[in-house]
Amino acid sequence: MKRREFLKTACLATACILPACKSTVKYADAIQQGNKLVVDKSLFLANSIVTIAYNQHGIGITKLDDNTFAASLLTCTHQGCAVSVEENGFICPCHGARFNNVGQVTKGPAEENLTSFITSNNQQFVYVHLL
Ligand code: FES
Repeated sequence: MKRREFLKTACLATACILPACKSTVKYADAIQQGNKLVVDKSLFLANSIVTIAYNQHGIGITKLDDNTFAASLLTCTHQGCAVSVEENGFICPCHGARFNNVGQVTKGPAEENLTSFITSNNQQFVYVHLL
């Protein structure tokens, strides 16, 4: 078993015991169904934030609890750079704006929150309702 596979397996095996082991981000594919993007809920067992492809920069989906998810467009509201996932939120590499895990501005120069999407979920999937 390669080192990366071992670490992934070890992290998954202990995810329920050691929340600190939880990965911050997972890049995943989403299926579009009408005006919704569909993401497998199991991705959130080992990841607190999952990013999916959408338009230019993608969407970050944050698990807030078992039945509550927030989805934010990963385009900075300052000058349109792609924001990256960081511990507990998002950061813009261009001028340093920061956003919390639901896309609210916590540090400028951005003055507006990330564009958010309504989400819903069932036992198996998270749905991001596109604007
Ligand atoms: S474009 Fe993001 S902080 Fe300026």
